[in-house]
Amino acid sequence: MRVMRDRIHEIEQQVMRELEKRLSPEELQELKVRTVGKKGTLTALYKEMRDLRNEFKREAGQLINEVRESLEKAFADREGEMAAVLMERRLREETLDISLPGLPVRRGYQHPLTLVIDEIEEIFLGLGFSVAEGPEIETDHYNFEALNLPKDHPARDMQDSFFVSEEIVLRTQTSPVQVRTMQKMCPALPVKIIAPGKVFRYDDDATHSPMFHQVEGLFVDKGVRMSDLKGVLLLFVRQMFGEDREIRLRPSFFPFTEPSAEVDVSCMICGGKGCRLCKGSGWIEILGAGMVHPRVLEMGGYDPAEVTGFAFGMGVERVAMLKYGIEDIRLIYDNDVRFLRQF
Ligand code: DAH
Repeated sequence: MRVMRDRIHEIEQQVMRELEKRLSPEELQELKVRTVGKKGTLTALYKEMRDLRNEFKREAGQLINEVRESLEKAFADREGEMAAVLMERRLREETLDISLPGLPVRRGYQHPLTLVIDEIEEIFLGLGFSVAEGPEIETDHYNFEALNLPKDHPARDMQDSFFVSEEIVLRTQTSPVQVRTMQKMCPALPVKIIAPGKVFRYDDDATHSPMFHQVEGLFVDKGVRMSDLKGVLLLFVRQMFGEDREIRLRPSFFPFTEPSAEVDVSCMICGGKGCRLCKGSGWIEILGAGMVHPRVLEMGGYDPAEVTGFAFGMGVERVAMLKYGIEDIRLIYDNDVRFLRQF
């Protein structure tokens, strides 16, 4: 029994000494298996116990149990400490320094033309108009003839056209959408649309570009009058350029309207006193308009004896230049971010 007791204590002390050392988690595990594991040195003593005299068996069993328990507790404590240390180290190593300034993410900007078209649409949608579209490559028929511009008409010279073939042209105006829409909707009333889009003319200088944008407007119904045109345009101009703007209509000529007018807005810089922008006149021309010509109503399928209508067309670049004070139209197409950033 003496021998047995010594061996038990020896194992115990050996383990305790080992545990004093800085063991790695793997070494700790290995030590545990080697002693109190199923085939460990302490566990093996249970078998040897059988060879002891009966009177000592109980005492030896108890002693092994006690030592085993205390070793298991020592292992558990050590494992616990180790886990805490490991967790602390992980937390320290994996911290992210969120106080470092990040890389700046540049925001994009909407193009001034997009902004202006969106705003025009917004205003007219509020007045009960809807948005219509037509093709950019157009037939001579819709671009000219259906708008009361026969082949030999001198007013065709007002617009330098890109012809694709004898009958096909890059549309010089958004006005063909008037007839296309009427034909689609006839006989429904009212026809109340705006049509934004690209148009093309053989022109290129500081105020003209071979491709530019227009917004067409068309309102056809029973009893539409020129005063309706003026009221709608005044509302539009005030929302677009400010509540104290005024408009005036000057007599003009367009083949697809009768009577026709050019519409001026009181200068947004000087308010009408006269300045460089309005060339001293106090007024700035912003669009063409008029009462839809009876022939155009007929082309759209409507009876000019029953319905009347007004139409207008404006240049989007021009509106953008006036609204944002852009002096050269080419800036609008260069897409220099230093320019675009300002909107
Ligand atoms: N289409 C004309 C142009 O491009 C603008 C225009 C004038 C449109 C009068 C109209 C209008 O609808 O009534 O110069």
